[in-house]
Amino acid sequence: MNWHRAKPSRYSTRMTCAPDATILAALERRLGPKGFTRDAQEMAPWLTDWRGSVHGQAAALLSPASVEEVQAIVCLAADARVAIVPQGGNSSMVAGATPPVDGRALLLSLRRMNAIRSLSPEDNVAVAEAGVILSDLHDAAVGIGRRFPLSLGAKGTARIGGLISTNAGGTQVLRFGTMRSLVLGIEAVLPSGERFDGLSALRKDNRGYDLRQLLIGAEGTLGIVTAASLRLVPAVGARAVAWVGLRTPHDALTLLRRLEASTGEAIESFEAMPAEALEMVLRNIPATRAPLTGRHDWNILIEATAPVGAPDPVERLTALLGDAAGDGLIEDATVAANESQAEALWKLRETIAEAERVDGPAAKHDVSVPVSVMPDFLVEASRAVERQFAQSRVLAFGHLGDGNIHFNVQPPVGADGKAWLAREGAAVNAFVHDLVVARAGSLSAEHGIGQLRLAEFARTADPVRLGALRAIKQALDPLGIMNPGKLVPANVDSSLETADVTR
Ligand code: MLT
Ligand code: ZN
Repeated sequence: MNWHRAKPSRYSTRMTCAPDATILAALERRLGPKGFTRDAQEMAPWLTDWRGSVHGQAAALLSPASVEEVQAIVCLAADARVAIVPQGGNSSMVAGATPPVDGRALLLSLRRMNAIRSLSPEDNVAVAEAGVILSDLHDAAVGIGRRFPLSLGAKGTARIGGLISTNAGGTQVLRFGTMRSLVLGIEAVLPSGERFDGLSALRKDNRGYDLRQLLIGAEGTLGIVTAASLRLVPAVGARAVAWVGLRTPHDALTLLRRLEASTGEAIESFEAMPAEALEMVLRNIPATRAPLTGRHDWNILIEATAPVGAPDPVERLTALLGDAAGDGLIEDATVAANESQAEALWKLRETIAEAERVDGPAAKHDVSVPVSVMPDFLVEASRAVERQFAQSRVLAFGHLGDGNIHFNVQPPVGADGKAWLAREGAAVNAFVHDLVVARAGSLSAEHGIGQLRLAEFARTADPVRLGALRAIKQALDPLGIMNPGKLVPANVDSSLETADVTR
């Protein structure tokens, strides 16, 4: 039987009910005043997504302090068929943690579950609860002479549960992979209310289907991640951070492969920004300044690291960049002379998303294609989009070494951005995604599907993939109470209760 040809699964966003007064009272009793509120002001910041473009409503905001409390919530919700929307730092780029507009769902914040339960330098493992902020985990790992090697611009806001549920990427994927490769074990509350205790951090475990991997990247649609065992790596002894100006993404990729050939695994970040992205940051983010004299069509931020006791990578990277300049591969480069210069370079990269938010609306995309295809894609897709959508401007930046670029399209200069987006957004999304699909790429490299990519995912996905996705959802969440309207496209006969789906 083919899943996609079989009768449609029952999953639909219309299956859930509004919580009645009895359930709300039971939740309030169980969670107490710190864990339960219906106060509009307290709830407001969590009902809108990070980009401020998607607004939802919720029947109550629940903030459990323990796994048992999460279980109690899920049991009550399952009995009454009430939807639950789990939320961590609310920094989703695709409105994955914003509740639907109907106001029937319970918003479940994991922020109070923020303990680091254990840190083991012997096992190289940290056990962190879902509400731990990423930068707090970084600090805790450094405290025992280790490192948690996933980082991104939102590190001061994003929380472990959300990073797991979106299979976050960020700026160190080149060397350490996405969250999926860093999670050794998971504790979660399943849609039945049962606790799945998979925290044991085994390096090898072949007991069939891997529930841990199913929960990673599931965006809370298969259960609520409450804690995880996370892989730590040796602390960084020294790092070299460089800013390079060059002509084309093709030259950039040639440079990356050259550096890798000479330094092995030392290169862990290779982030690309066109001149327009750097200018946007300099315009919108205070206390930033251009690292090089002159304008360069493309800018690359490179980080190389060395473990404690190994030679400082600064000298080696400086010499390699000198050779590249001598060969005409790069136009200019600077290597940070100290930590504060290194941080200043990173700030230019990590605040692009914030600078874009200040700049105004744009049609956003988070795409991946095979790494070797990305330079051509950047040139061809930019040309095609700007030809198709008069005076639009492509601003594409990101993780070139991973084949993942945030291919954003800005409205014409002087246009009303909101109106342009409302008029052209859906067509721009479809146009860009078709170019990506034609190159066997993905329309969600690291941000997930959430609400904002749902329609495009449904439009472009192979029916076999969608059928399998729906079958898994149906098997683990037969009542459809877990984060409905996200990730899993509902069957065609049910409308999606989402807001703006163009960005
Ligand atoms: C980044 O790489 O800066 C983030 O993924 C945010 C974004 O896409 O804007
Ligand atoms: Zn990114």
